[in-house]
Amino acid sequence: MPVIKSRSGQKKAIAGGSMEAAAELGVLFGCLKGVCGKCATTVLSGLNNLSAPTEEEVAMDLDPARRLMCQCLINKGTVKLDLD
Ligand code: FES
Repeated sequence: MPVIKSRSGQKKAIAGGSMEAAAELGVLFGCLKGVCGKCATTVLSGLNNLSAPTEEEVAMDLDPARRLMCQCLINKGTVKLDLD
């Protein structure tokens, strides 16, 4: 079962599922459609455990280490986020 981690905690996620559990670690969500950018978060490790960037993320021209948590899916392993 994939795991989402921050420095202060961790949450289990469903393989192939959304990153919504990251909200419990402090990620702020807004539009949930890849438009507002509110959920953009730096991924410290495990970037390859996430789905490929969506068109919305590419259009936002984020730093390669930053992902929109409302757009990416967690496929496997551990993803550590820079939240605190
Ligand atoms: S919540 Fe708006 S871009 Fe993710």
